[in-house]
Amino acid sequence: MGDPQRFHVVAELAALREGRTLACRVEGRPVVVCRTRDGLHALDDLCTHALARMSEGRLRGTRLTCPLHAAAFDVCGGQVLSGPATRPLATHAVRVAGGRIEVAIDPSLPPLEE
Ligand code: FES
Repeated sequence: MGDPQRFHVVAELAALREGRTLACRVEGRPVVVCRTRDGLHALDDLCTHALARMSEGRLRGTRLTCPLHAAAFDVCGGQVLSGPATRPLATHAVRVAGGRIEVAIDPSLPPLEE
C-alpha cells in the first residue's frame, strides 16, 4: 500500500524481440513496451495527437512513429521528435524480473482519456 512503484508482469521477455513493440494494459492504462538495442522502454499506448495506438506504429532504433499521422517520439523519454504531435508520451518504469517484463505506473499520472 502506498508503494509508488507497483510492478505488474506484462509478458515473458522472450516474447518481445528487439525492434518490436508489445501492447498491454497496466492498471487499466494502455501501455506500449518497446524493445530496442539498449533495452526496454514503456510508454502510453495512445498518441498525444489524435489517440492512435502507438503499438501499431513503427519502431526504428529508439524512434516510434505513429501509424495515423506519422508523429514520431523518442521511446527513451517520450519526447516528440516530429509533429504533428506536440506533447510527449508519458513514460513508465519497466524492468525484467525472473525473465518477465514488468511495468509500473506512476500513481501521480493523470488518467488517460481513450
Ligand atoms: S494520431 Fe498520432 S500523429 Fe496523429
